[in-house]
Amino acid sequence: MQSQLTQYQDRVNQALKQHVQHFSAQQKSTDNKLFEAIEYSTLNQGKRLRPALIYAIADALEISLKSVDNAACAIELIHSYSLVHDDLPAMDDDDLRRGQATCHVKYDEATAILVGDAQQTMAFQILAGDKNILAKHTVEMISILGYASGPLGMIAGQVQDIQSEGKIISLDELKTLHNLKTGALIQCALLMGAVQSSRYTQIKPQLVQLGEMIGLAFQVQDDILDIESDTETLGKPQGSDLELDKSTYPKLMGLEKAKQFRDALILEAKSVLANLNLDSAFLNQLIDYIAQRKH
Ligand code: IPE
Ligand code: IPE
Ligand code: MG
Ligand code: MG
Ligand code: MG
Repeated sequence: MQSQLTQYQDRVNQALKQHVQHFSAQQKSTDNKLFEAIEYSTLNQGKRLRPALIYAIADALEISLKSVDNAACAIELIHSYSLVHDDLPAMDDDDLRRGQATCHVKYDEATAILVGDAQQTMAFQILAGDKNILAKHTVEMISILGYASGPLGMIAGQVQDIQSEGKIISLDELKTLHNLKTGALIQCALLMGAVQSSRYTQIKPQLVQLGEMIGLAFQVQDDILDIESDTETLGKPQGSDLELDKSTYPKLMGLEKAKQFRDALILEAKSVLANLNLDSAFLNQLIDYIAQRKH
């Protein structure tokens, strides 16, 4: 498991570095710190789970990894942008991310806003410029990523997250919030990784279901780690949710019930995966990792 995950992480890290350096080499002005800040917020210690999901599903469907490299970079850029903005004072106001000072602390708020904007647009430019795949697949991937990260997906979830601070919301509302702010992009990874398969249309409903389960389990574990882990292990401030009185699973159902809920989601996800009839040993391990991870 570890070596497979490490291979995928290394692969996307290398591809990301090339893309970012390619952009940087074309800049007209070298007297600003924009690209330094983009590198700082992109080429760092992120776990690269979403790219790993893209590579894992592509491998399982016998799609070449080369043909999903740009998708892997694009989803990681979108995710990284969401973290840069999530940490801003107007949002979660955190000063540590991926083991280093957050972008607005290292640079300044205007730079962090613009870095996130840049990461987002770079993602779509990288997808659109992919010469290795068919245009119809490019268009489909842009559409999936736009939907998942946009105002009907991740952004809607972030809005609900901020609006739910200091409140008690229902479990149904929390599920929707988590599905949107985190689940949408994780589900998107499975779909983007599978688009080029001849089985795509047939297996899409199960991939959607699987993505929803692991996306929710991932965020429940994130909520649990905010309580149980420590800042050094997390690379981000432990207790951030408690400080802002965020709506989380441990807050609404208690820590033990939240763990049971997470484990039930993982079991369900594995049975959905089993029904897909894929060579899925690594995907199975990745699903376990989602619940067992320590950071
Ligand atoms: C953190 O995501 C934000 C959530 C959606 C919970 P990750 O835990 O994947 O963060 P990185 O990319 O490894 O830093
Ligand atoms: C972040 O959720 C979700 C997105 C960035 C879209 P959190 O606010 O819980 O993530 P962390 O805990 O700061 O990584
Ligand atoms: Mg947040
Ligand atoms: Mg946060
Ligand atoms: Mg969190």
